Amino acid sequence: MSIIVTGGAGFIGSNFVLDWLKAGDEPVITLDVLTYAGNLENLAALEGDARHTFVQGDICDRALVDRLLAEHRPRAIVHFAAESHVDRSISGPGAFMRTNVEGTFTLLEAARAYWSALDEAGKAAFRFHHVSTDEVYGSLKPEDPPFAETNAYEPNSPYSASKAASDHLVRAWHHTYGLPVVTTNCSNNYGPYHFPEKLIPLMIVNALAGKPLPVYGDGQQIRDWLYVTDHASAIRAVLAGGRLGETYNIGGWNEKANIDIVKTICALLDELRPSAEGSYARLITYVKDRPGHDRRYAIDARKVERELGWRPAETFETGIRKTVQWYLDNPEWVARVQSGAYREWLNKQYGAR
Ligand code: NAD
Ligand code: TYD
Repeated sequence: MSIIVTGGAGFIGSNFVLDWLKAGDEPVITLDVLTYAGNLENLAALEGDARHTFVQGDICDRALVDRLLAEHRPRAIVHFAAESHVDRSISGPGAFMRTNVEGTFTLLEAARAYWSALDEAGKAAFRFHHVSTDEVYGSLKPEDPPFAETNAYEPNSPYSASKAASDHLVRAWHHTYGLPVVTTNCSNNYGPYHFPEKLIPLMIVNALAGKPLPVYGDGQQIRDWLYVTDHASAIRAVLAGGRLGETYNIGGWNEKANIDIVKTICALLDELRPSAEGSYARLITYVKDRPGHDRRYAIDARKVERELGWRPAETFETGIRKTVQWYLDNPEWVARVQSGAYREWLNKQYGAR
């Protein structure tokens, strides 16, 4: 038995793979093309671990996906691979359509062919787990209840539109072909190995470098934050016990305004790494807003809690402290990501093999 994880060298995927192999011994095959967001250093702890196989490749490459399925005979595909940054989707939406839509379509077709040829027991056990986002539901007003699984899809950015399209494909492959799928729509994640172009890691590394902390617009946009290993445990729960064809919203009941997140990070850094120049909050700088900026996301996680008994292990307070501490403890990771040196890792580690 094994599972294939796509996008396993990215932020959430790598945390999931590390967590999976901590929780058990079922082998993982990571398929990742290593875009700028893919970093094999995130999986360095698994070097030489026979339970983990890394394959550099594109989810749009049908022949490669077919070959991996035939070779490894996995009992599940957990699909993280995506272009994931809203700001990049605004400046260049093409890659989002290709990976998030065409890539998911390619995986679904390969999975369908593989699954159709399994025996009855293999067919019943197989899962295609699609990892998606709360951003497909659009933006909430202050008085709206949090997103439930029954909310209409109203994506507003090229990123969320591409993820919404992929969710629809997954749903259709279940209804039309009977492919055993589950989908999770999660709120904003944070934690170790988060690429420092997203809000929380960007603020930490900029503050430590004495650079401005760019807050978009009025900073009152709200996101619902979940520590990344809690997302990993939710995926494990849904993969193990989720009902076929269902979607599960995953979140930690942690709605926070962006400016409050930034102030919390500054306060933690003031405590853990005080600056001679005064509070890091002096670096907060309001900048031009993101076009089409969603005002509020919030997740109603009662379905996964009720059906599967899942609960997050971290509160926002414990999770953000761990996260800031991780960035303080791992300056080499940050430096290598910022200089681009992390991209040499593949050649150094795998070039001779
Ligand atoms: P990420 O950008 O950190 O990682 C994405 C990974 O996918 C990278 O390793 C990249 O190399 C790989 N990849 C990209 N295109 C590929 C392709 N064509 N073939 C193979 N691999 C490819 O993203 P993340 O934040 O870890 O998000 C992972 C998944 O979780 C995404 O599907 C995202 O939509 C979803 N999600 C993210 C969040 C969040 O807060 N980051 C929240 C909810 C859902
Ligand atoms: P981000 O981490 O890009 O995640 P998403 O857009 O998928 O929610 O951004 C989180 C919030 O922080 C979002 O409202 C945009 C805002 N933001 C800033 O204010 N400044 C920044 O430099 C970044 C990257 C984001």
